[in-house]
Amino acid sequence: MRNAEKAVSVTQRWKGLLCGIIGVTAVDLNVVPLVIRGLQRLEYRGYDSVGIAVTSSGTLLIRKGAGELEAVRRRLSLDELQGLTAIGHTRWATHGPPNDINAHPHTDCSGTVAVVHNGVIRNYSSLRQELVARGHRLKSETDTELVAHLIEEASAGKPFIEALASALGKIEGTYALGIVNAGEPDRIYFAKMRSPLLIGIGKGVRALASDIPALLDIGKTIVFLDDGEFGYITPNDMAIYRLLPGGGYVKLTPQEVAARTKVVELSPEAASKGGYPHFMIKEIYEQPEAVRETYDGNVEDPALDRAASLLASAEKVIVVAAGTSYHAGLVFSLIAARRARLLLYPLIASEVSYVSDAIGKDDVLLAVSQSGETYDTLEAMRLAKERGATVIGVTNVVGSALDRASDLKLYTRAGPEIGVAATKTFLSQVMLLELLALRTGVETGALDRPEALSIANALKSAPSLLSAALEASDPVATAMARAFNSKSLYVLGRGLGHAIAKEGALKIKEIAYVHAEAYPAGESKHGPIALVERDFPVMVVATSDSPEVAGNAIEMAARGAKVFVTRPADLRLELSSQKGNMSVIDLPPSGGLLELEPFILSPIYQLFAYRLSVLLGHNPDKPRNLAKTVTVE
Ligand code: M6R
Repeated sequence: MRNAEKAVSVTQRWKGLLCGIIGVTAVDLNVVPLVIRGLQRLEYRGYDSVGIAVTSSGTLLIRKGAGELEAVRRRLSLDELQGLTAIGHTRWATHGPPNDINAHPHTDCSGTVAVVHNGVIRNYSSLRQELVARGHRLKSETDTELVAHLIEEASAGKPFIEALASALGKIEGTYALGIVNAGEPDRIYFAKMRSPLLIGIGKGVRALASDIPALLDIGKTIVFLDDGEFGYITPNDMAIYRLLPGGGYVKLTPQEVAARTKVVELSPEAASKGGYPHFMIKEIYEQPEAVRETYDGNVEDPALDRAASLLASAEKVIVVAAGTSYHAGLVFSLIAARRARLLLYPLIASEVSYVSDAIGKDDVLLAVSQSGETYDTLEAMRLAKERGATVIGVTNVVGSALDRASDLKLYTRAGPEIGVAATKTFLSQVMLLELLALRTGVETGALDRPEALSIANALKSAPSLLSAALEASDPVATAMARAFNSKSLYVLGRGLGHAIAKEGALKIKEIAYVHAEAYPAGESKHGPIALVERDFPVMVVATSDSPEVAGNAIEMAARGAKVFVTRPADLRLELSSQKGNMSVIDLPPSGGLLELEPFILSPIYQLFAYRLSVLLGHNPDKPRNLAKTVTVE
């Protein structure tokens, strides 16, 4: 990590995704302007809808609606709200489309408890069924609303803090919660589990928020909460409790709170990038969190079973996408062939129209798109639907055009990606699609259920392997970028390695403007090798399905190429004849589990592309000629 990044590494524990929350309470100050300013600084976390709840003389006043902050602010006259205590939310939809009803805050049946939430409640379906069966009237499709009703149910005759602890005991998943109770107008309750949450301390004012920039108007003294902690703030005080395993809770001692309290010196602008110089590098480092959220949000989702059964019974499965999403589709096709014994047709979306006559009503089209708005992908879906095929959509944006047009919908949970180059959304797509391939294997009978379950369980280690891969890769990628001195390079791989190579080469091209060509390594001697001369750079992605790629690396080195072989450290490669011009870069071991290898091998290519782009003086967040979402033909 660079010095500028190290200086703010304190913020990195809170790399969190999907929605921003804020709550402010003051002794004698209208807090609504502070909440609005905080929401402006949190909008990078989501911009599907906005809402504010103010507690005032025993009642709750809520204004909320779909759309970006400035639009909702004008439409609902948010600036007219006034109060000493308020919570606010900016949403990145996960459960339920982005509309007025699903906008936060959400309330209980009595309308006295209001909740804002960042995270994903994994046992949402069962909790919802139980609450409805017990007579709760749920208004939205969100997982968040359940929290308000769980607290309502637990609060009969009990102090609010106990009701909150009891509700937290029933929730599985991730959350940062801000809660107001009409009966306690100078208090904001909170809870944190694997979603970011901090407390800011000012003079006669306290606040909580998902990220530091939203707190910088309150003061520079910040309390860094840990997972499993909950409590409340008042304008001059706070109490923090820790949930105990098996139930119950204890209050943190003043010494423990003091140990968490730090003074931060960050400008709001630097802080909105988490202290990183660019969104792209921030998003690269957010990948473990994005992949974890995607795993948690999907592993028990019945939609995955429905999708798997559609794939298993389809006449043909056509996977369509553009750019990075296409590469995730390639990974899916390889894993599905192995685990489900299904040969799929991965197609670049803009090429579908030339073969669409061959699509029929018994086919399934799996469309993958981060934004859900890519013209080519939407057009391929339209053609497939016209021919009667069933469309399964995979997107990061709930309510996008792709989402609305899909017969069955699956969601990655990477949160908003601002850098034009897709990074965290790629590995989130890979995670979701690997889970889908495993379920499909059960449906086709290629895998038995325990086997599929054990691989899915092993995938839980992907986020920590990704963290280790980032740590191991960055210094190497930085050194390689510094030494790089060529106008072009090859990135070779076989099988899964080829899919990863294609994604790596795309990153290098689009942000470093260096011609990087990915090739199936076996095919390289059918033409491309002619380009190789002394010191021509060749990067090789070695994966456990294709250790024979070592032979191709040797062929390249023998012709004078400067070869860099990237591999999981435990992958044995026959590189005995390697020369001085071949370097082997050992990344964290995969234990031979192919599904883990994209998480181990992709970061070094992303980081190399990023470091090279910066060294060459480019802006990696906004590469020339490109847009984040391509909505034209
Ligand atoms: O939003 P989508 O996933 O449909 O976007 C597809 C491509 O435009 C996108 O992946 C593009 O290739 C990225 N800039 C790659 O980093």
